[in-house]
Formats: sequence, C-alpha cells, structure tokens
Amino acid sequence: MLSPACSISIRDNIQVLHIDNAFASAQVALFGAHMLSFQPKSDLRERFWLSKAAKLDGVQAIRGGVPLCWPWFGDHQIKQIEPDNKDFPSHGYVRTQLWNIVKTLDTPKGTEVTLSPTTTQGAGFKGEAQLQLIITIGQHCSMQLVTSNVGSAHLEYRCALHSYFAISDIRTISLQGITGDYRDKTQDMQTFKTPSPYKFNAETDRVHLCQASNVTIVDKQLHTVIGSNGHDSLVVWNPWQDKSISMNDMEDEGYLTMVCVETAITQGEILAPGQSHVLTQIVY
Ligand code: BG6
Repeated sequence: MLSPACSISIRDNIQVLHIDNAFASAQVALFGAHMLSFQPKSDLRERFWLSKAAKLDGVQAIRGGVPLCWPWFGDHQIKQIEPDNKDFPSHGYVRTQLWNIVKTLDTPKGTEVTLSPTTTQGAGFKGEAQLQLIITIGQHCSMQLVTSNVGSAHLEYRCALHSYFAISDIRTISLQGITGDYRDKTQDMQTFKTPSPYKFNAETDRVHLCQASNVTIVDKQLHTVIGSNGHDSLVVWNPWQDKSISMNDMEDEGYLTMVCVETAITQGEILAPGQSHVLTQIVY
C-alpha cells in the first residue's frame, strides 16, 4: 500500500513512483531507484536534468536524474576480489536493476520512500550486502544510500549519488565550496589544484578528494545547494560537446544545460560484518 502522497505510472518501459505533497513533487524510476525529478513548491524550479534522449527502456542506465553507482564507481576496481574484467558495467550494476518499494510514509515534514534492489549480488562483487535508498521529499530532497554488511567477512565497495543538475548554461555557471586537489580523469588522473573561481570551458571529469559538506551551483541569481555526508570525494563531470555527440542517449547540445556534482566514495569503504555506512546527498 502506498501512502496518499504516492502513485505509480508507466513511462515508456519503466515504472515511475510519483510523490506529490505539500512541499514538493518528485519522480523516482523503480528501474535503478533512479530519481528523475524534484521540484519544490516554493519555487517550482526543477533541480535535476534529464536527457531529452534518455532511454527509458528498462535496459540501459537512465541518462540524467540521479543514477546510483554501487558496488563500484566508474570502471570496476575491486581487483583483489576478481581480476579486472572490461565487461563489468560502468558504475556497477544496481542502476540497471529493478528496485522494490519497501515503505512509503507521509509525515508532517514530507514523504519518506524506502527502496531496495531485488538482489545486491552480481558479477564483480562478492560481498554479502543489504542496500537501501531512503528518499525524503520535503522542502528539500534527501537521498541516503545505506550499505550494510550482512555477511561474515569484511566487504569493500565504492558508490555514488551521481546527480545531474539542471542549469541554464555550463559556460556561465560556477561552483562554490570545493577546495583542495583533484584527480583529472581526462589527464591520466594527474593531480591539480581546484580552480577558484570554478568555471567550465571544456570536458570536465574530476575526482575531488574533498569532504566539503556543502557545494553551491551559482547560476546567475539562482543558487542550488548540494549537501553531502559520508563521502570521501566529490566528482564533477560535464562531457562537453564531442562526448555528448558520441552518446546515444544525449542530444548534441545536451551538455550545455547539465552539470554532475556527485557525492561519492571513490577510495573504497570497508565494512566489518554487521557494520553499515550511509552516503547522503541533500538537494536544497
Ligand atoms: C562520471 C565519471 O561519474 O560519470 C565519468 O567520472 C563518466 O568518467 C560519467 O563518463 C558518466 O558515466 P556513464 O557510465 O553514466 O556514461
């Protein structure tokens, strides 16, 4: 039974959970527990970017919104568990899996939705884990990815809330709040200092080893604040034009109106039996 604020619709080939309460409206695809939309009623501004060419076929990962990366981030890195295998999917396998609704609950502060994947087992990962995504839609959108080690051995994983934010133009926005060094995925993971001001004029794919709790996207007068907790990195990505053209689920000019600011564990989290870890992103 869904709470009164929740309903389900079908979009192309996927089921979408709609949440509509006094504070906001939001949509979550059950394929991947993938947030597609969050619009607070205070300003009716859509916070997430969804590609106009996104595939909602229930096979390919959805381009835009908030993909969940788990149990690895980017290429498969858990080399001590299995030999590197180029066939492992980018960003793990839970973003292309069907998730179940565990609970929906309307409270005075909003609607809480708990989702869990059909299985956490997959090629490339041997841990015995339980995984849940707890989404709270209120004045803000809170996403908590909870990993619990339910096995008898230690487990290692990486993960990310890989949010795509809607912006007016990547060439004019800036980011505030990220400091320190970053590793540049477009330049063999070389280390550079985070620029200030932080602006964009080319393909950008950066792993910032930064645990800042707030990052702001400054887009003219509009500010989108992204809160993070439980992370070891913030990843900033924009594919720019050539990569956009090469992707089958992105319009050629799609890169202009999106920026990814990802709350991530890129260095590896190790959980002892019985331990849990929570990765949180809050979009204001
Ligand atoms: C980012 C990575 O997190 O995701 C990039 O740092 C990657 O390297 C991007 O290209 C998109 O990944 P995917 O698998 O969704 O195309």
